[in-house]
Amino acid sequence: MHNFDTLAPTWDTPERAERARGVAAEIARRLPLDRSQTALEYGAGTGALSLALADQVGSILVTDASAGMIEMAERRIAEAGVAGLTARRLDLLTDPIPPDRVDLIFTLMALHHVSDVPAVLAAFHVLLRPQGHLAVIDLEPDDGAFHGHHEHGHEHEHEHDEDAPRGLDPLVLTEQLKQAGFTDVVVESIWTVTREVDGQPREFGLFLATALRP
Ligand SMILES: C[S@@+](CC[C@H](N)C(=O)[O-])C[C@H]1O[C@@H](n2cnc3c(N)ncnc32)[C@H](O)[C@@H]1O
Repeated sequence: MHNFDTLAPTWDTPERAERARGVAAEIARRLPLDRSQTALEYGAGTGALSLALADQVGSILVTDASAGMIEMAERRIAEAGVAGLTARRLDLLTDPIPPDRVDLIFTLMALHHVSDVPAVLAAFHVLLRPQGHLAVIDLEPDDGAFHGHHEHGHEHEHEHDEDAPRGLDPLVLTEQLKQAGFTDVVVESIWTVTREVDGQPREFGLFLATALRP
């Protein structure tokens, strides 16, 4: 498992900031957002996506399993001076579901690190109010190169290893969303991340899946 506590202090880069702004614009294009809504971001890291959406919803609970990431998120929220954002450590695989229901949940590049996606989707379903929306933005399936595991022939060895995530298959996610009780699932490619692999720039796609909690 990645040690996100250790990565937290140097997580924010211009590329990740630009990605957060671009993804925020895509969410706003696809979902009806307004200032009466309460939201929760899951696996938020330092909270860049929540900060980019802060003025389009009423309040956001910014959550992540890593205490180091939450510490950085608190710092970023204070620096930005925005009202309505609160950061809290949360891992839905081990922690109780927070008591307050929300109108919107969004999660960026986090579910491919989660060992039990159906369990987290079930918790999202509980957390969302009826007619609430979920937005999952994640890495399209790759051969492991994004996380530095791209040796051919070793794919199966690492398939279920949290240390070697290989993106998220939107077709599998769509089925899991339906199983969890979501409807109106729509998936589209929205973003490209460029990362150096073996000294060469390589492009990795991100998809946005939106779903309704009826
Ligand atoms: C690749 S980072 C993405 C962070 C941020 N969303 C971004 O796009 O910059 C993945 C994040 O998921 C968090 N994470 C991993 N497993 C998690 C879990 N079970 N529950 C909540 N967050 C988790 C990590 O701590 C990390 O901050």
